[in-house]
Amino acid sequence: MPNAYESMDTATLDETIATLEAEADALKARDLHLDMARGKPSPEQADLSRPMLDVLTSTSDLTDEGVDVANYGCPDGIPSARRLMADVLDVDPADLVVSGSSSLSLMYGVVSHAMTHGVCGGTPWGRQDHVRFLCPSPGYDRHFAITERFGLENVPVPMLADGPDMDEVCRLVEGDPSVKGIWCVPKYSNPTGVTYSDEVVRRFATMRPAAPDFRVFWDNAYVVHDLTQPGDRLLNVFDALAEEGVTDRVYEFASTSKVTFAGSGIACVTASPTDMADLRRSFSFERVCPDKICQLMHARYLIDAAGVHKHMAAQAEVLRPRFQLVEEKLTEGLADLGCASWSHPHGGYFVSLDGPEGSAKAIVSLAADLGVRMTGAGATWPGGDDPRDTNIRIAPSYPSLDELSQALDVLVVCVRLVSARLARSAR
Ligand SMILES: Cc1ncc(COP(=O)(O)O)c(C=O)c1O
Repeated sequence: MPNAYESMDTATLDETIATLEAEADALKARDLHLDMARGKPSPEQADLSRPMLDVLTSTSDLTDEGVDVANYGCPDGIPSARRLMADVLDVDPADLVVSGSSSLSLMYGVVSHAMTHGVCGGTPWGRQDHVRFLCPSPGYDRHFAITERFGLENVPVPMLADGPDMDEVCRLVEGDPSVKGIWCVPKYSNPTGVTYSDEVVRRFATMRPAAPDFRVFWDNAYVVHDLTQPGDRLLNVFDALAEEGVTDRVYEFASTSKVTFAGSGIACVTASPTDMADLRRSFSFERVCPDKICQLMHARYLIDAAGVHKHMAAQAEVLRPRFQLVEEKLTEGLADLGCASWSHPHGGYFVSLDGPEGSAKAIVSLAADLGVRMTGAGATWPGGDDPRDTNIRIAPSYPSLDELSQALDVLVVCVRLVSARLARSAR
């Protein structure tokens, strides 16, 4: 169906473009410097975790179930922190390692291990002729950057309303032994906000990969990041695997970067006992021991999954009005025009907006010119190449409500003006 600009007669369209250009000029004159580029927690969110800093003092007991937290040792992470993260992910703490503050670093480390030493003793990916990695798109640019960095071929697969297009995923995974992995953000996916359906999760268990060293990189970054209650429910992928009698298929990652302090949280990886033995050995060469003081602080403050959910309910109070504002502004500014569609996530950190074909780069560039920094257009696709040039990631968490309101006004004008110009240039 044509959008409102495509349906206008040329004289009206020219007038509309002139009006929108005047609006853009007025916005530019305001000399704005606003940032909607990255999904960072706002200062108010970070403040919610300040009490955690008081949990440890110079007189605190620095032992955790017999582990001396103040010294070397315990490479898998302290017992209470492993139990905490295992409770959050609903997995066995015996199969989970808590290490470092960044799940992305763990993912990088796991890919690096597969490249140089192979998965569970298999031929290192780096010594195989050609390795392909599936990238549900739009997706998370930093995932795609890791596999690109190691010289793997990133293969985009469509992201649908209930998860990746599993017919396409299974066709590739089952038919091509050079396909070694897939990036997944199964809950409140970055950027679409999609939570994978049970059927999608089960197909990761029922698929029959052509490559024995194929692994699913299950980045559950937004596992506890519900905006409203009840949040989306994600089937536990390890339960789905167990039902099919499948093991050694999934590496699951998570962190508290967007629970407590970004960059100063705790991160974890969990997988089958065999895969974890392989990863523990790999980690043992690069880490003598993790940051156990940080782990102790998190475990004593958050305690268990219920404690994390309580903490996240307070974060949701801060985030929800921002997501509501995005919905309101986009609906008010764009809904009647038919030139854009956007996601309505129940959690996570992003809203994904699609403009007309060939519009995203121009919209992001115009927004930058008017003082609003957005995630680069195309960033949500491997190689930065969005084939239809439609997708824009909106990250509403960091700006204040007032700043966000101004940034969204700019974005709406940019979407309108670029859409109108595209309609005009098609004449
Ligand atoms: C899907 C996803 N995974 C991982 C990360 C980064 O996590 P960490 O801070 O634990 O490295 C982000 C941050 O935006 C993310 O969106």
